[in-house]
Amino acid sequence: MVPQWVIEKKRDGGILDEAEIRAFIEGFTAGTIPEYQMAALAMAIYFKGMTDEETAILTDAMMRSGDLISFDGWPRPTADKHSTGGIGDKISLMLAPLAAAAGLAVPMISGRGLGITGGTLDKLESIPGYDTRLSVGRFKAVIESVGCSIIGQTDRLAPADKKLYALRDVTGTVPSIPLITASIMSKKLAEGAESLVFDVKCGRAAFMRTPEKARALAESLTRVGRALGRKTDALITDMDQPLGRTAGNAVEVNEAVETLKGGGPADTRALTLELTAMMTVLGGIYPDRETAKTALARLLDNGAACEVFRRMVEAQGGDPAFIDDPSALPQPGCTVELPSPRAGTVEAVDAQIIGRIVLQLGGGRQAVTDTIDPAAGIDRLVQRGERVEKGQPLMRLLAKDRATIEPHLAAATQAITF
Ligand code: URA
Repeated sequence: MVPQWVIEKKRDGGILDEAEIRAFIEGFTAGTIPEYQMAALAMAIYFKGMTDEETAILTDAMMRSGDLISFDGWPRPTADKHSTGGIGDKISLMLAPLAAAAGLAVPMISGRGLGITGGTLDKLESIPGYDTRLSVGRFKAVIESVGCSIIGQTDRLAPADKKLYALRDVTGTVPSIPLITASIMSKKLAEGAESLVFDVKCGRAAFMRTPEKARALAESLTRVGRALGRKTDALITDMDQPLGRTAGNAVEVNEAVETLKGGGPADTRALTLELTAMMTVLGGIYPDRETAKTALARLLDNGAACEVFRRMVEAQGGDPAFIDDPSALPQPGCTVELPSPRAGTVEAVDAQIIGRIVLQLGGGRQAVTDTIDPAAGIDRLVQRGERVEKGQPLMRLLAKDRATIEPHLAAATQAITF
């Protein structure tokens, strides 16, 4: 295989064959194909696209670049969910224990925040003692005893994706549906779950800004997953406004606990039930989504899902005190309530502005080496459709001190439209 001939073929709109794709990914992972040739191929794919078959081969080659976790022979069906990323998206924290309480085994490998979007791993690390870096053996042992485990990506899981993602990030080749599909799917397939549900976010603060693009990605993910032998389903959900009333890390863990106890904001509970229902139907636990949602709602309301969450936290070294006492989570040095400048009904809460503010309060990273302030963020956020009076708080901003919060108060007011 001559790398430049493969690049030229894709540049001219050709369809790559299996041997070409596999050799390219193997060479890139091993370092025999240099980054400039991989970058050129990524750009050719960006412009010319890939067929489903090419995308499936690319996904499979990237998945096989590292370790594969196997749950063959396990008594429980295995299932997982992937979200393409949003503001206030704490769904995984409730979904994994809820699905486990219903009888699934959930091996979940999560990521850190990317840009303004939050990451499940950063949220979990606000829990004192919680270890996100388990070995594969320990990960499987926790799933076996508790039903679910949430950890971070290891260096040995789909290393081709790690290398290619970093390259795409600096070569303008991130927003390509075949490349995004292969990137997400290679990691999720290596994790070993039989069923996969995708939450493709659509809106101002999402990768996919339009319903057409979100649908194209959802279809690509589900088709490629099926081509590689997994059961898949997808939901396209709103990311114009944040999910729930909190955005940050510790504040989102808190809201997750409220939801696990049967409370929490209506949108957060509804999406948790919907996505978990899809997983349990694919896994054969319930016959259809409506039956599943009714049964799952009971597992939230009777405390069963919260109990699984508590056991997962303990099994991963975390102190579960925060489940009964929110003050056991990291606390901000300063909180400022933002009064509404007028009375009216909230028409929109701009998720992109909220995401940017949370990042600058310390809840996200401006450089990869930045450390996160787990207590920083926004809570008590108003939601679309709510009536507020003049002077009533629209949200509360949390950070280490007042000087960190003050520059963002004007933008925070602009995030709310009446
Ligand atoms: N998330 C990923 O893991 N990969 C992409 O390419 C985009 C989002």
